[in-house]
Amino acid sequence: MDMTAERWEFLTNYIREAFAREDATLAGVMARAEKAGVPRIEVSPETGKFLEVIASIAGRGGPAKLALEFGTLAGYSGVWIARGMASDGKLITIEMSTVHAEQATETFRQCGLSERITIRQGRVLEVLPKIAKEIGNESVDLVFIDALKSEYPQYLEAVLPLVRAGGVILFDNALASRWTMDMPPGKDADRDTVDALNRSLGADPRVIACCVPIGNGVAMVRKI
Ligand SMILES: C[S@@+](CC[C@H](N)C(=O)[O-])C[C@H]1O[C@@H](n2cnc3c(N)ncnc32)[C@H](O)[C@@H]1O
Repeated sequence: MDMTAERWEFLTNYIREAFAREDATLAGVMARAEKAGVPRIEVSPETGKFLEVIASIAGRGGPAKLALEFGTLAGYSGVWIARGMASDGKLITIEMSTVHAEQATETFRQCGLSERITIRQGRVLEVLPKIAKEIGNESVDLVFIDALKSEYPQYLEAVLPLVRAGGVILFDNALASRWTMDMPPGKDADRDTVDALNRSLGADPRVIACCVPIGNGVAMVRKI
């Protein structure tokens, strides 16, 4: 198929309409958060739906029971993930901004998910070692990584011991952010970091990995 820009836009809208309709509560999340100063940098609805589907199969023989998220924003992606998880599943999501964490708290309350989602405020690389002590190695079914792109390689190394064999790690912005992957190297440091990570994942013997061209691109990694 010849993938013109127009066809790509049509197909993206088609996927959104056919598979990724938001309910009224979810549809209002970012509009409310934006009024409080939160930027509109949430995942697209079709990426959200993808997260929900993966969460529904990332556990041992069923939905995920324990998931981590790096980069909560106002909780939009967290709601999709939690909705796919087991009904007694727990999502721990890390966010450094107080304003974003406050909005996410309200989002999870409105969506009836406060009991199942815990927000840990702080920087991922500072908070994660504390969480690791609490949950232990090889305990996590699913990780969604969407915080600082320059720290993605460190996030992988920090989180890999926590994920069980067969568990899944998803990196958002594997193909685009403020940059796109077709830019030449040397123009944007985050693009180059993600490019190097993608290429290392493709050859990493600890994992099996691919990239799904949905939203801004999601690198999908399964721990062997
Ligand atoms: C792209 S947004 C996350 C979007 C969210 N996953 C969604 O789709 O609804 C990135 C978030 O990560 C947070 N963040 C950035 N660097 C961080 C860090 N080092 N530790 C924790 N949070 C961080 C930002 O404050 C922002 O809220």
